[in-house]
Amino acid sequence: MSPREPKLSLELVPIKKSSSVNVYLAESDSEKFIVKEILTAEARERMDRSQKLLAKIMRANPNFPCVRAKKIIALESREVYIEKFIDGISLSQKILCENDAEIICSNLVHYLRLLRTLNGLDEECANVNWKNFIEGYVHAKTLPTSLFKICGAASLDKFLTYIQNSLSEIHFGETVSLVHNDLNAGNILIQKDLKIFVIDYEWWLFGDPLKDLSKMIWYCRQFPDFGRIFRTAYLNAFGEFDEDTLKFYFAVDILNHLSQYETLIHSAAWKVYFEQEFEIVRNIWRKGFCLRK
Ligand SMILES: Nc1ncnc2c1ncn2[C@@H]1O[C@H](COP(=O)(O)OP(=O)(O)O)[C@@H](O)[C@H]1O
Ligand SMILES: [Mg+2]
Repeated sequence: MSPREPKLSLELVPIKKSSSVNVYLAESDSEKFIVKEILTAEARERMDRSQKLLAKIMRANPNFPCVRAKKIIALESREVYIEKFIDGISLSQKILCENDAEIICSNLVHYLRLLRTLNGLDEECANVNWKNFIEGYVHAKTLPTSLFKICGAASLDKFLTYIQNSLSEIHFGETVSLVHNDLNAGNILIQKDLKIFVIDYEWWLFGDPLKDLSKMIWYCRQFPDFGRIFRTAYLNAFGEFDEDTLKFYFAVDILNHLSQYETLIHSAAWKVYFEQEFEIVRNIWRKGFCLRK
């Protein structure tokens, strides 16, 4: 009689649940994995898109700090992916001393530099006209009418005018590179040795690399000491950048959230976020408005 295979039992611990994706930690006796259950067609498309990109990145640079997921179930209603668990704490949960912040910022800048080296990844990339892209992106956004009552029509009008004016006033550079495009603190995992791992490539695009800096600003506003260290590291690596362009990208991200207001407002985490966004909507068009705190 052949010896019995040990029974594999996996415990699924929910990490994050939303209407489009559920993320679980799957633990067996010896290993940990991340299981992602994709519930909507849009989320499936984004996952597919991000996996195609990651495959290309790994071909171009096998040492790139990312994980690829493997599709293990494909049903009409849902797909399930499994990927390696990255043993780290997200930047949103980690408490940092100044020394750690300096190392993490230097690693983040290194990551951003790696993204810039991937600008020849695709022929699609070479053909991107960033100004046209961002114009099309902005014009495709519509704001729900309910928002005008909540945020104030006058404020929203000023905000929209500011975005419209910026589109014609800003000189958009022609150099495009791979942009992660969702570089928030929850997607930056810090390992024990303070190396970083960036996850969640669902919103990637080819465009102005400054776009990724605009996402980091949320975190830097919350932790100004970290913000100062990060800014110094960024400037040392990439040189000066145009503050107005950065401000504009920040506003574009807010516009995107506002356009989804009716869906996002049901999530408790976003409610807090919106209060801060409204504050920025009411002020960003003012001369001298500064993103830094
Ligand atoms: N490969 C991974 N290793 C460790 N933790 C992960 C991994 N993938 C996701 N997570 C955790 O799950 C959270 C949500 O996953 P993410 O892919 O960012 O989904 P969402 O698109 O909902 O933000 C992350 O913030 C992180 O804490
Ligand atoms: Mg995420």
